[in-house]
Amino acid sequence: MKHLRTVVVGLGRIGWQFHLPQIDSHEGYLLSGVVDPLSDRLAEAADKFGVAAFPDLPSCLRQVLPDLVVLASPTPLHAEQAEMAFAAGCDVFTDKPMAPDLATADRMIAAAQHHGRRLTVYQPERGSREVVCLQSILAQGLIGDVYMIKHTRTQYTRREDWQAWRRHGGGMLNNYGAHLLDACLHVAGGKAEKITCHLRAIATLGDADDVVKVVIETQNGILLDIDINMASAQPMLPRWHILGSHGSLQLDDEAHAWRARWFDPAELPPLTVQQGLAATARRYGSGEKFPWQEATFPVSEVQEVDYYGRSHGYFTGTGEAVVALAESRELMRVLDACRTDAGGSVARTEDGSTR
Ligand SMILES: NC(=O)c1ccc[n+]([C@@H]2O[C@H](COP(=O)([O-])OP(=O)(O)OC[C@H]3O[C@@H](n4cnc5c(N)ncnc54)[C@H](O)[C@@H]3O)[C@@H](O)[C@H]2O)c1
Repeated sequence: MKHLRTVVVGLGRIGWQFHLPQIDSHEGYLLSGVVDPLSDRLAEAADKFGVAAFPDLPSCLRQVLPDLVVLASPTPLHAEQAEMAFAAGCDVFTDKPMAPDLATADRMIAAAQHHGRRLTVYQPERGSREVVCLQSILAQGLIGDVYMIKHTRTQYTRREDWQAWRRHGGGMLNNYGAHLLDACLHVAGGKAEKITCHLRAIATLGDADDVVKVVIETQNGILLDIDINMASAQPMLPRWHILGSHGSLQLDDEAHAWRARWFDPAELPPLTVQQGLAATARRYGSGEKFPWQEATFPVSEVQEVDYYGRSHGYFTGTGEAVVALAESRELMRVLDACRTDAGGSVARTEDGSTR
C-alpha cells in the first residue's frame, strides 16, 4: 500500500480532533508535518505525534515534500493554501466549506486543474450512520415517493469565534449549511432548482447569520426544508423527517433509530371521490382507517463511511472520491444562491447594532 506523506494545516477543533487521529490511525497515510501559527499547538503536535512542525505552509512544503495537504485551517485561508500546495506538486483534502464563496471555490478547482492535482472536500454528514441507514430504508420503498425532506440543527449559543464574522467566511449557512444542504441534496438525489433562503443574526456576537431557513425544490420535485437555528431555546424535533406518498420516516435521537410509519396502498379499501357540492352526511373526512404499519431501524446497525480509507483510493488513483468535486462545487453554487436570495437580511452589523 502506498503511504501518502501527509501534512495537516490548522491544529484547531477539526484538525486536532478528527484529521490528525484519522491520519495517524490509517495505514495508507504517513503524518509528515503540521502547520499552525500557534507555537503551543505545534509543540503539542510534535510531542504527541513526533511530527515536524511549522509556523507556515511555505516552509513546510519546502522541507517536507508531502503527497497530500489536508486543510483544517479557517475557511478564508483554504484557497491560497490549496494553490500553494498544488504548485508544490501536492494533492489537497480540504475541510468544508471548501471556500467562503463559489468564485473562490472555482479558483481552487481551476488551480487543481492547472497543476494536474487532485482536490476533494470533507463533507461527512452524507456518510454518517444516520444517513447511510436512511438510504438503506428508502431503498426498500416503504414510504412511497419522497416529496419532502425536513432537516434541522438547533441550539442556543452566542457565537464568539471567527465563524461569527462574515469577513471570515463565517455564519451558519456556510458552517452547518455545508453539512445539512449536502446531506439533503444527496438523499434527494436531484439538483437544487428553486432556492429560497432567509438569514438572521440573533444570538451571535458577530455579524454573520446564526439563524438560517432554506427551502429548496429539487429538479426531481422534492422539497427540502432546512432549519439551522443557533438562537432556539428548545430543539426543533425531529432533526430529520422524510415524507413520502404513503408513509414517513423520523429520526428518534433518544433511541438512535429511524422510526417508519407507512401503509401498503394495495391494502387500502375502495373509496369513491364525491362529485357534488354537498359533503355526504355533513361529514368531515371519510372516516377511513389506514392500515398503518410501523418499524424501527437502529442506526447503530450500519457503518459510517470510512472517509480516510475511501479517500486513500482517490489520492492514489485507484478509486473515486467520497464526494465528487463536481458535487462540492454544486454545494458552493447552492450556498451562493442562498445568500443571493437572502439579500441583505442578516440583521446585525459589525458594531453590534441591528438594522
Ligand atoms: N467537517 C466538519 O465537521 C468540521 C467541523 C469543524 C470545522 N470544520 C471546518 O474546518 C475548518 C477549521 O475549523 P475549526 O473549527 O477547526 O477552526 P479552529 O478555529 O478551531 O481552528 C483553526 C486553526 O487554524 C489555525 N490557523 C490560523 N491561521 C492559520 C494559517 N495561516 N495557517 C495554518 N493554520 C492557521 C489556528 O491557529 C487554529 O489552530 C473550517 O473550514 C471549518 O468550516 C469542519
